[in-house]
Order: sequence, then C-alpha cells, then structure tokens
Amino acid sequence: MVSQKRSKSKNFNILFTCIGRRVSLLNSFKKAAKELKLKCSFLGTETTELSSALQLCDKKFIVSPVSHQHYIKQLLQIVKQNNVKLLVPTVDLDLPILAEAKAKFADIGCTVLISTPQAVNICQDKRQTFKFLAKNGFDTPVTYSVQQALAKKNLKYPCFLKPWDGYASRGNAIAKNRQELVFYTKKIPNCIVQEFITGQELTCDVYIGFDLEVKCVVPRRRIETRAGEVSKSKIIKNLKIIRQTANLVKKLGVGPGVITVQLILTKDKKIKFIEINPRFGGGAPLSIKAGADFPIWILQGLCGKNSEIKFDNFENNLTMLRYDAEIWLKT
Ligand SMILES: Nc1ncnc2c1ncn2[C@@H]1O[C@H](COP(=O)(O)OP(=O)(O)O)[C@@H](O)[C@H]1O
Ligand SMILES: [Mg+2]
Repeated sequence: MVSQKRSKSKNFNILFTCIGRRVSLLNSFKKAAKELKLKCSFLGTETTELSSALQLCDKKFIVSPVSHQHYIKQLLQIVKQNNVKLLVPTVDLDLPILAEAKAKFADIGCTVLISTPQAVNICQDKRQTFKFLAKNGFDTPVTYSVQQALAKKNLKYPCFLKPWDGYASRGNAIAKNRQELVFYTKKIPNCIVQEFITGQELTCDVYIGFDLEVKCVVPRRRIETRAGEVSKSKIIKNLKIIRQTANLVKKLGVGPGVITVQLILTKDKKIKFIEINPRFGGGAPLSIKAGADFPIWILQGLCGKNSEIKFDNFENNLTMLRYDAEIWLKT
C-alpha cells in the first residue's frame, strides 16, 4: 500500500481525468469544496476541447490518448505544476495505468482515487471477476469460455454473450440457440458466454475511505440507460444487497474512493453480481443527492479529517431523471 500524509492545507487543486460529460460529478465536488471552505481549483483532462465538463473546469488540459506512451508523464507534469492533491479518474480507460503509477503520484503529494493493479485487473477482466466471485461464494452468472460453451452438451438458452474486456454494454448479445451462439461467438472479440439472468438490475455506489474500510453502500435501480450510462435511476435501500455488496468489496480490497458494483436481483430474490467498476459510476450524483455525500467525505479525508459516516443514512426511493443540457463554445 502507498503510504501518504494527507494534506492539512486548505489550498489545493483537484484533477479529473477523461472528464467527458461528468458535469454533475464535477459540480458536486465544487459544492463540497465550497461547503468545507476549501480554496480548490478544478482541473480536467480530455483529448479534445469538445467535452462539456472540460469547459466547466478552472483549467483545461488537452492530453494524448490514454494508450499513448507519455500519457502518465503528461499527467504527472500537470499534477506537479498545478499543486494537484487529488486525482479522480472517471472512466475505465486509464484505471490500469493509474493503478500502476499510483506511487509516482504519491511521491509528488497527489492521492489518486484508484485501487491496486491486481484489484483493477479482477474488475476489468470479466473472466477474473467471475472467478473471484465464484471462489468467494458470491452468486454470479455461470461463465464459460467460447470453447467451453460450444463443447457443452446441455447449455441452457438463451445465453448472454459479451467481451471479457468490454465496457458501456458494447458488443453484448443474446443467443437463443446454438446457431446464434456460433454466429455471435465469431462476431464478438474476446467473447465469454454467460447464463442469461432476468430480473431487476441495480448498481451499488460504494464508498471506501482512505483507511480502506467500506463506509457506505447505496443500491439504486437502473431504470433506463443510454449508451451504457444510467439516465433514470431510483434508490432502493435493500439491506441484504447492502450487506452482501459490502462483504464483496471488503473481500476484493478495492479503494479508496467510490466504486460501483452491478447486480441483477432475480424474481426469487437471488443477488447475481455481474460487474465491478473500480471508479465513480455515471449515476453517482443520485447517491450524493440522496445523502451519501462522497465528495465531502473524500475532501475531508484528504484534509486528514474523519467524517461521521452512517452506513445507510441516505434517502430511500429518491429518483433521478436525467436530461440533456448545452454548453456553448465560440471558437
Ligand atoms: N449474464 C447476464 N444476463 C443478463 N444480462 C446481462 C448479463 N451480463 C450482462 N448483462 C446486461 O448487459 C449489461 C452490460 O454488461 P456488464 O457486464 O455490466 O458489462 P459493461 O457494463 O462493462 O459493458 C448489463 O448492464 C446487463 O444489462
Ligand atoms: Mg456494466
């Protein structure tokens, strides 16, 4: 673990990488800084000016794509030159390299909200996620390699196909029979085959403190998604889900910061865990609004203060309906 002294200064900056459309998350941190009377500036990185959230940052940085060999070097330079004490990743893309480089950021006084490389790998490789969940006794859809699925005589249909390294629901398919299975397994790169689960889909936003303890779990129903991101969602305070998710997160050893755990609640009340994203989820603003004030807790933790966090002290049934808004650029 990277040991690091937390800043006592009230004057520091916060950097969001690949900030994209995360306007609501950015604003919740701005609000928290104001409430805590911190003098923070908000910095963002993107590969293009055409990012709504980037336009709302105090300072914008156009950087190379995550896959570029100098990506981390560029971030380290931004951090060094701008007194950045906190780096918040917002998408899956840069998590593995940020996890690897965490100590380099710590060396220049910057805390990255990122898990260990091992934990990030378990989350980002859905074959590993399945192994981890099954090994530790958590219910999850049975998962096969393409070879295993094709060789299995009594495979149940329909089954669910997705890339083991996929994101934002890309490349997913339902195969209703063997013919479709053969077709899709050829079409989907890095394909795995899963038992098809039906039920209510939920995401849990989980806050893990700087002491790596699980502090709060907020389950919310994914009512509607657009392009893989939730657009309608409702808080469902289900204690069984909260308890099981907390156990899962403890076992996995992720954090610090906010991560999401996705699951399907079946008709017969089984909790089938399907995915873990070790970063802020797109729907986190709902949990924050419901009272799980992650930005306040993170900023307090960063300043070396302990927040009083009640494990399930958030408003049940609060619903978020998202809409589009505009940012105007004159170039
Ligand atoms: N085994 C499954 N059975 C039924 N639906 C599934 C299954 N696995 C995934 N899904 C559906 O596909 C979506 C995307 O899958 P997920 O594993 O979360 O990958 P990602 O979000 O990285 O694309 C889920 O939100 C869920 O709606
Ligand atoms: Mg998902």
